[in-house]
Amino acid sequence: MTSIDQLRDIIENEIGKSFPPTAHHRLYDPIAYLMGLGGKRLRPIFCLLSAEMFGAQANKALPAAMAVEIFHNFSLIHDDIMDDAPMRRGQSTVHEKWNVAQGILSGDAALVLAYNQLMTLPEEHRWHALQGFNKMALEVCEGQQLDMDFEIREDVRVEDYLEMIRLKTSVLLATSLKTGALIGGASPLDCALIYDFGINLGLSFQLRDDYLDTFGDERIGKQIGGDILADKKTYLLIRSNEKAGKEEAAVLNAYIGSTGQSAADKVHQVRSVMQKLKVDEDAEALSKKYYTEAMDMLEKVGVPDARKVQIKSVSRSLLGRDR
Ligand code: IPE
Ligand code: IPE
Ligand code: MG
Ligand code: MG
Ligand code: MG
Repeated sequence: MTSIDQLRDIIENEIGKSFPPTAHHRLYDPIAYLMGLGGKRLRPIFCLLSAEMFGAQANKALPAAMAVEIFHNFSLIHDDIMDDAPMRRGQSTVHEKWNVAQGILSGDAALVLAYNQLMTLPEEHRWHALQGFNKMALEVCEGQQLDMDFEIREDVRVEDYLEMIRLKTSVLLATSLKTGALIGGASPLDCALIYDFGINLGLSFQLRDDYLDTFGDERIGKQIGGDILADKKTYLLIRSNEKAGKEEAAVLNAYIGSTGQSAADKVHQVRSVMQKLKVDEDAEALSKKYYTEAMDMLEKVGVPDARKVQIKSVSRSLLGRDR
């Protein structure tokens, strides 16, 4: 099997070829810019690893790996507009560096480029891969819609939040793995198991992402406290509302859904309540729970343990990640 570093090199090389920095074109430059800022490349690495786990050469799954990474970057360009986020991967977001209209159009073009990649898959896999990809793409939009709807809703429960992050985050991780498995020739049962592994790992991942948005540092490359400023109904906030006594509830009520205060004050006050109620610990515990469930799913996948080592290792690197 190819090492994780080698797989990352294969992906970086392909991205470099597909998005040359010399292409001075207003439509494509923002895509090349964001793709070129790096990131963990988690989804394409999982796609290639999954194909190899089931016995295919990584190269065979490369168009699918590119498709999921380009789709991910498309979703980030639009997500940053929706979340009014100034920073991504330590640099200006696309709509800050160019403008919102440019972010919308370049994001649209990126989505089409993701589909172009899938069109180059061998015919035996193309239809199936497209079918899974379409399902995923719509679900991500559904999740993003819920995420926005929840900003102005006060009655969001933990189970609503979990469904929202399953849609906006988990299904892309799960589809990356499942498409790799499909190309690797996995049985329908193993495809379903690796998909469920991805769903649980995605829940664990997004819980950690929410934790880092509030309690992380500059290593995350994003604005700290962005979720609090946007009144996001993260697990941290929902759990705080559940645990709050009179005093904490008064602070949360004064700051959430309100724009009257300075941004720094809002983040400071809400974060203090979250810390006092120890919901950071609750989020970590729940993230670990889904990680463990993911590992249980992986155990059931019908290939020898030695073939699962790399997927396990990448997954472990996500536990307690700081970026
Ligand atoms: C960010 O994903 C979007 C979420 C689903 C939280 P990543 O944390 O994988 O972003 P990059 O690609 O590594 O920058
Ligand atoms: C992102 O969720 C999900 C998608 C892009 C589909 P977030 O809004 O939490 O991701 P970050 O924190 O901006 O990376
Ligand atoms: Mg965001
Ligand atoms: Mg968002
Ligand atoms: Mg986030």
